[in-house]
Amino acid sequence: MKVLIINGSPRKDGNTSRLLLEAEAVFEKENVDFEEFQIGSKAIRGCMACGYCLTHDGCVIGDEVNELAAKLKAADGLLIASPVYYGSANGSMVSLLDRLFYSGHVDCRMKVGAAFAIARRGGTTATFDELNKYFTINQMPVASGRYWNNGFGREAGQIAGDEEGLQNARVVARNMVFLMRSIALGKEKYGLPEKEDITFTHFIR
Ligand SMILES: Cc1cc2nc3c(=O)[nH]c(=O)nc-3n(C[C@H](O)[C@H](O)[C@H](O)COP(=O)(O)O)c2cc1C
Repeated sequence: MKVLIINGSPRKDGNTSRLLLEAEAVFEKENVDFEEFQIGSKAIRGCMACGYCLTHDGCVIGDEVNELAAKLKAADGLLIASPVYYGSANGSMVSLLDRLFYSGHVDCRMKVGAAFAIARRGGTTATFDELNKYFTINQMPVASGRYWNNGFGREAGQIAGDEEGLQNARVVARNMVFLMRSIALGKEKYGLPEKEDITFTHFIR
């Protein structure tokens, strides 16, 4: 059982990292493997809509996103956490997720997703919704917590004072573990849900 964690923050020991430590401690306790990828200062550029991935395996840009697609394929769960920039996930996080899901061709059915948004003050629920959309367009069940997963702090480390946010991170991680284990049993017994070929309806008249 393995969770892939993507941390959008450029700050090494920032608030996003601190909140993720809380979830990671739960995975450790539950003997669930995890691997965290932090974007940091890497130049993760956005999708160019070149169409390369429609006829090839992976993204033409050939950076870490292709490696993450392979890791996502092998994972049972995906945990994503982003700082809030202007009421949205930060730019490199959006660039990464757009390309990961578009070019990765990963069958995400029944991989469990969970998302966190970390801010100084505002924009967490909009960012939470934004991040969850990557899951709910990909047949991924979402592990929820006891709030709309957020955490607050401005300077790196300030989130340590947000006890409710950190507690919620632990709750979400436990719920993720429960769902991943339950789905593993369900897959054994029933297999994955039937897969249909995708029908595209582009609303062109
Ligand atoms: C470019 C930029 C835009 C930001 N926009 C917001 C915002 O819209 N709302 C907010 O509450 N905080 C905003 N912040 C503050 C960060 O979300 C906050 O400091 C957060 O803790 C950063 O997470 P990190 O420590 O993991 O990098 C912004 C910070 C930066 C650098």
